[in-house]
Order: sequence, then structure tokens, then C-alpha cells
Amino acid sequence: MKVALAADHGGLHLKEEIKKLLTSMQITFEDFGCNCETSVDYPDYALPVAEKVASGEFDRGILVCGTGIGMSIAANKVRGIRCALVHDTFSAKATREHNDTNMLAMGERVIGPGLALDIVKIWLGTEFEGGRHENRVKKVMDIEAKYSGVK
Ligand code: RB5
Repeated sequence: MKVALAADHGGLHLKEEIKKLLTSMQITFEDFGCNCETSVDYPDYALPVAEKVASGEFDRGILVCGTGIGMSIAANKVRGIRCALVHDTFSAKATREHNDTNMLAMGERVIGPGLALDIVKIWLGTEFEGGRHENRVKKVMDIEAKYSGVK
């Protein structure tokens, strides 16, 4: 599995913790920034990660900002992305099983690093259940196709 990750200035420290975790799990990753404490714009960092996941170059993407909200909104604008904003372990598991999410967003100002790293582990380690969820995910992607003008 290859993971792309990025953060804005509000998620920088948690991103570094996630990188340590991925290294310890022997998961290949690439860091798409930011690497500075100065204020940056989260869409500039959400977009390259979302594009890498949408293109298939990376299997999963992880984004961190202050709340995770801006990053998740931006990522979900990219065709093919299903990005979940997650701050609890139940949702981390459920969003893989039910929504087949390919991106995860979290807020460094919302949760501590212990919980965040548990969320990452669960989210990376949980498979999509398929079955009745298959058609629901397809319906979501049909909405995206309808509003992007591509059938
Ligand atoms: C930056 O101050 C903050 O707005 C950003 O990290 C994020 O929370 C946006 O949704």
C-alpha cells in the first residue's frame, strides 16, 4: 500500500506523528507538505494528495489541518475521492467498511495524537465490506458524475 499525506500549518505536528507510525508499519508514503509553521492555504495541500489518489498512483491519502474540515471539503471536490473526516475509532472502521473511503482527514486541534494514530491504524487496516454497500457507494459516485458533467 502507498499512502500520500499532507497537512497545513494547523496539522503539521500530527502529520509528523503519522509519518513515524507509517514508517514503523513499513508502509510506503510520500509527504506532500507543508513543512513550515507559517500560515498556508489548506486547498493547496489537499489537491495534490487527492489527485495522486484519484489517479491511482497512491492507494490512500491522509490529510490533517486544524479541524480536518477544510481538507476534507477540498479533497471531496476531486473526482473519484471519498474523503472521510474522522475523529473516533468507530467511524474509522465504519467508513472503510461502508463507504470505501480512499482518503482520511483529521483535525490536529480536535483530537490528540494517541487517538489520531489509532484512527489511522484502523482506517488503513479495514477492508470495504462490499455487498449492500457496493450499490450505495456507486450511487454516491453517480451523483459526482452527474454534477461534474461526465457520465
Ligand atoms: C487554519 O487556521 C485552519 O482554518 C485550517 O487548518 C482548517 O482547520 C480549515 O478547515
